[in-house]
Amino acid sequence: MGSVYFDDTEATDQQRRTRLYQGDIYVFAATDTTRALVALARSMLEEAFAPHDPRTIHNHLSAEAVAEILRKLKPRFIHHDECKRLILKIMEERGVDLDKVYFDVPRMRSAYPSHFLSSGIAYAFHPHRDTWYSAPMCQLNWWLPIYPLDPNNAMGFYPHYFSDPVANSSDTYNYYDWNSASRVNAAKHVKTDTREQPKATQELEPITVRYLPPVGGIIVFSGAQLHETVPNTTDVARYSIDFRTVHADDVMTRTGAPNIDSRCTGTTMRDYLNARDLTHLPDEAVQMYDDGTEIASKVLYFGDRLVHEAQE
Ligand SMILES: [Fe+2]
Repeated sequence: MGSVYFDDTEATDQQRRTRLYQGDIYVFAATDTTRALVALARSMLEEAFAPHDPRTIHNHLSAEAVAEILRKLKPRFIHHDECKRLILKIMEERGVDLDKVYFDVPRMRSAYPSHFLSSGIAYAFHPHRDTWYSAPMCQLNWWLPIYPLDPNNAMGFYPHYFSDPVANSSDTYNYYDWNSASRVNAAKHVKTDTREQPKATQELEPITVRYLPPVGGIIVFSGAQLHETVPNTTDVARYSIDFRTVHADDVMTRTGAPNIDSRCTGTTMRDYLNARDLTHLPDEAVQMYDDGTEIASKVLYFGDRLVHEAQE
């Protein structure tokens, strides 16, 4: 069972990464920088859904209309210069070395009351590890709520499964096949989602822990943590921002969480960009994670950022 550090400013980034790879979780308070990021997200959401409150938009628009607005709004947010600048500043103020950290495109996510738009572009994630979806064992996830959280409208964690294997179907998942075949279709799946996702194939103990940082607070956790989108049983929508990072030293030394049950193929290693100059990880680093399923015609789909971003 891991520990949870609240607003810890003592640990260096290296100490923090070591603890995160052991299953610990960090929860940070809001700062001026995270508040600025949240304000940017809110202003874009509120403008897109005006004159309605984005949190109750499901009472005013159809699922299709909301999906259409999100499809345009989400890429605009993540490509916004201010969004990129603030995310780098957030990492910097937490002591992360921007020359060594590589990050995947940030996402804005939405979770509506469970009867409304719970698939496709606003997929409610069942319990999973990101490492079942081809993330490397050194991936860290940073997650911020945009509006106040409710326990029934938050992220759920199953910390004890960090060290207990879970029977799962990740062996059916290949990252390149997923990109080339499935994601292209996600935007069409407004009410039903037929994509094959890696899932737990055993009963899980129904004990989730929900960390509820304030608006602009951050939860940082290993991509190997078992986590989920708690089915939203409230009557308001949840909006959040997240981004994923890997540290070049850990990539090169294969340092990360232990792999206790992930058997997917392919790697997301080509997706991360250096925080300072937006370069990819060196080829030799990526190749360490290749498993022979990387075929040029499929790997090319990584470049299809618009498809990728429109769906998250
Ligand atoms: Fe996840």
